[in-house]
Amino acid sequence: MTLTEQISAVAARVEQRLTGYLAGVRGPAQPPERLAEAMRYAVLGGGKRLRPFLLIECAALFGVKLENALDAAAALECAHCYSLVHDDLPAMDDDNLRRGRPTLHLAFDEATAILAGDGLLTLAFEILATPQTHSDPAVRGALTLGLARAAGWGGMAGGQSLDLEAEGKTLKVDEIRYLQALKTGALIEYACAAGGILGKAEGADRMALETFGRLLGQAYQLADDLLDVTGDKHKLGKETGKDGRAGKATLVAVLGVDKARLELERLEREAIASLQRFGARADTLVETARFVSRREH
Ligand code: IPE
Ligand code: IPE
Ligand code: MG
Ligand code: MG
Ligand code: MG
Repeated sequence: MTLTEQISAVAARVEQRLTGYLAGVRGPAQPPERLAEAMRYAVLGGGKRLRPFLLIECAALFGVKLENALDAAAALECAHCYSLVHDDLPAMDDDNLRRGRPTLHLAFDEATAILAGDGLLTLAFEILATPQTHSDPAVRGALTLGLARAAGWGGMAGGQSLDLEAEGKTLKVDEIRYLQALKTGALIEYACAAGGILGKAEGADRMALETFGRLLGQAYQLADDLLDVTGDKHKLGKETGKDGRAGKATLVAVLGVDKARLELERLEREAIASLQRFGARADTLVETARFVSRREH
């Protein structure tokens, strides 16, 4: 199987699990149909599912079966989809196209998009806290704490705040790296760390996963920023040129396309090097790092 086929196969299993979670009632009351519809729109039918794939592959390094990592992977994807819905809102990036379809606030309305985001983030924590996700409460606790930190004020939400504050300003390279480590890096680092939590990784193994996640997270946003300049709207399923129009602080804006590409190649090499201790067991993750920096969508 090629890596793309592997990612698609895992994505199908994750999507199946997400469909189950978004199908019906597990709480005390039936959710309103319009909100449920909007949450399904945000999550199902699109997306590379890269974060779930990373979580599952990092867990697999320690012998965790796909089946036993699917719930944590689905939870992470819910949190990621929430971040996209809010990122697209008029008050944030004000975008009209996501995953090849109108953004949620256009397909529904702004209030529903805010609430669907709220619903998805809380669903992520609900999934992580559910005994079915892992039989060991300490593992569920560590997964929950990790996601809270990665998604919150010192993670994705904090990075989004810096990203908006930086619009129209010229930031230093290190300031942009910091902003991106939070807004995108934190959830990708969490994907890798969560795989390690499920696999009960310790010491140097755990640190290697964290380093890999951190470098891959940086590479991921850099690739996204390059694609915004050089990519194809139809392949990406979202508008291009939007960072320049919004005056976003990106490494591409500061360094230019060529230097940004070199930086991406460096990150790819360093991410791959951080997996060395796992030997051939990490072959798929090595391929994933190559995919991340060379992707066209
Ligand atoms: C887009 O994430 C937002 C960023 C953090 C760069 P993805 O490129 O992973 O989006 P989907 O999930 O595949 O749609
Ligand atoms: C988004 O970064 C990061 C998130 C936390 C969602 P972008 O704003 O560059 O993502 P796209 O290009 O809209 O997908
Ligand atoms: Mg944004
Ligand atoms: Mg955006
Ligand atoms: Mg972008």
